[in-house]
Amino acid sequence: MVFEKFAKAGIIPVIVIEDVEKAVPLAKALVAGGLDVLEVTFRTACAAEAISRIKREVPGAVLAAGTVLTKEQLSAARLAGAEACVAPGFDPAIVRAAQEIGMPFCPGVASASELSQALSMGLKMVKFFPAESAGGVKYIKDLLGAFRWTGVKFMPTGGVKASNVADYLAVPEIVCCGGTWIVPKDALAAGDFAKIESLAKEASDTVRRIRNA
Ligand code: 3PG
Repeated sequence: MVFEKFAKAGIIPVIVIEDVEKAVPLAKALVAGGLDVLEVTFRTACAAEAISRIKREVPGAVLAAGTVLTKEQLSAARLAGAEACVAPGFDPAIVRAAQEIGMPFCPGVASASELSQALSMGLKMVKFFPAESAGGVKYIKDLLGAFRWTGVKFMPTGGVKASNVADYLAVPEIVCCGGTWIVPKDALAAGDFAKIESLAKEASDTVRRIRNA
């Protein structure tokens, strides 16, 4: 199951690709740094092309499509070879469309009501977004007080970074975190893949440290 791969990775880089030529070297740097699950967001026109190039040329990478807001993006993500889709919010119509084509979908929630609706559609894994602004680790722990018994798992994203990711991953139900901090915009624009690989390595070391503690 693809969400088990998310959990195993622990940290998922959220990627915004402007230049499709950078997709493959970027993915190689992230995988070399120990992060193999990549969320390529549909915020730029070349997202689908980036996913299919990475899929073709970086066999170690597990591809998720991010910011999937429409049925067209859902189809494009599937055609490109994404194994899962992620969204910042919860849209039952998109979740249903994903379920109809057998695409694992992780919607964003930021409240008990949205979480209830996601669970009632049979989802077991949700993004918590925007994590820091919505209340951070404390808010998730409070939600878990009521929802832990359901077995729900969280992927907080939004304001998660090197300095606070360990606090999130210390909560057992937070199986992974997403974020853009591993792929800084300026480093990607400059083609500084060594920097990105070292940020990925730092992130994967953090996951290992927490899990071995
Ligand atoms: C996302 O869509 O997951 C967020 O844009 C990531 O948020 P961040 O830039 O704060 O990591």
